[in-house]
Amino acid sequence: MPSALPLGDPVPADGSLPAAVRDRLPQRAETPLGLYVHIPFCSVRCGYCDFNTYTAEDLGPGASRASYPDTLLAELQLARGVLDEAADPGRRLSTVFFGGGTPTLLPAEELSRILRGARELFGLMPDAEVTTEANPDTLDAAAARCLAEAGFTRVSIGMQSSVPHVLATLDRTHDPANVARAVAACRAEGLQVSLDVISGTPGESLGDWRQTLEEVVALAPDHVSAYSLIIEEGTALAARIRRGELPDIDPDDQAEKYLLAEELLTAAGYQWYEVSNWSTSAQTRSRHNLHYWLDSDWWGAGPGAHSHVAGVRWWNVKHPAPYAQRLQAGTSPGHGRELPDEEATALEHLMLRLRIAEGLDLRDYQRLPGATPFDEALPQQLVEEGLAEAEALRHGRVVLTLQGRLLADAVTRRLAGF
Ligand SMILES: C[S@@+](CC[C@H](N)C(=O)[O-])C[C@H]1O[C@@H](n2cnc3c(N)ncnc32)[C@H](O)[C@@H]1O
Ligand code: SF4
Repeated sequence: MPSALPLGDPVPADGSLPAAVRDRLPQRAETPLGLYVHIPFCSVRCGYCDFNTYTAEDLGPGASRASYPDTLLAELQLARGVLDEAADPGRRLSTVFFGGGTPTLLPAEELSRILRGARELFGLMPDAEVTTEANPDTLDAAAARCLAEAGFTRVSIGMQSSVPHVLATLDRTHDPANVARAVAACRAEGLQVSLDVISGTPGESLGDWRQTLEEVVALAPDHVSAYSLIIEEGTALAARIRRGELPDIDPDDQAEKYLLAEELLTAAGYQWYEVSNWSTSAQTRSRHNLHYWLDSDWWGAGPGAHSHVAGVRWWNVKHPAPYAQRLQAGTSPGHGRELPDEEATALEHLMLRLRIAEGLDLRDYQRLPGATPFDEALPQQLVEEGLAEAEALRHGRVVLTLQGRLLADAVTRRLAGF
């Protein structure tokens, strides 16, 4: 089962934003606003996955796939009211991202209806990026056509691996041949394509990982997310490793696989722009995910979804049944919220900026009221150790080198002074 949510401060029943945030909102006219739409359904749960998602068997009473789009639309209506009441400067959505779970388990017509609702309530910028995640088994030509006609611009497909024994260890049930079919269906409709792959699965050799990367390159997506497998507590995979049925993940193996990903993707014309993300150009980066790394605003709709608006963060109740009940009663599904203090805000800025190719602007960081002062010699020391780019530092930025990306957390800790 997915892990529990933090408690936080209570969210008022009408979902209204704290006074401090309302004061800041009029100044955020130029800050992009994104919408995340969570679809909490999967046909089976993969053994490694800790996402807030439910199969038909474990959903239980009080919520259903069929009624879910209307419940979501009720939250979007509430969101519009909250932002209007807080005098949001009328921002239209610059990105929309349907994630999961498996959004494409809902009919494409229903995803399109939700997008229509979002457009009517918020408006979309003319160049808005509209993405849905998809499992390779749940995206055919008709669905791709329907999504493209509704205004989706991009599909992110969960490929994970092209090697059958690796897919089996991950409990992936999709037919590997469907990845190429789903990519072709998206391309035929002019949709951009992103592929998600995972490295470091127990039993995956370097040759297996190379085969997956070569298959990715052959499919020529616009964007690639390559994640190192995380063993999440409470998952079936964690239990199998604990019982000794599978070997634990090996950080050296994961580092070697990261280097191979960089080598093969760079050779094929991709550029990294975030530690786990590569794209063919600046235009094909995931602008939605950049909102998370650049401290923009986003409303997260759906059970367990997280939102961030002008410094306040909140998260919805986790299970689809109480989520639906709250919205049926006309109350906010918000479960808890927090206004991070200056120190936490500065630390997050440091951590997130170090993960992206633009890096950390040292002057911007040092101007933040909660920033920890560090030894002036430290950035140069990072360059000398091969962890930060010399040229970027001449322009006042810490940009991680390839070696630095492998040690991003350690670099963050050193700059943050712990
Ligand atoms: C919501 S899923 C993508 C769509 C669809 N549910 C699927 O899996 O095909 C988001 C991505 O998170 C990644 N992911 C999930 N759990 C992970 C873990 N424990 N370690 C690394 N990556 C993980 C997977 O690559 C997955 O494609
Ligand atoms: S299909 Fe995707 S969201 Fe669903 S359990 Fe598997 S990885 Fe997680």
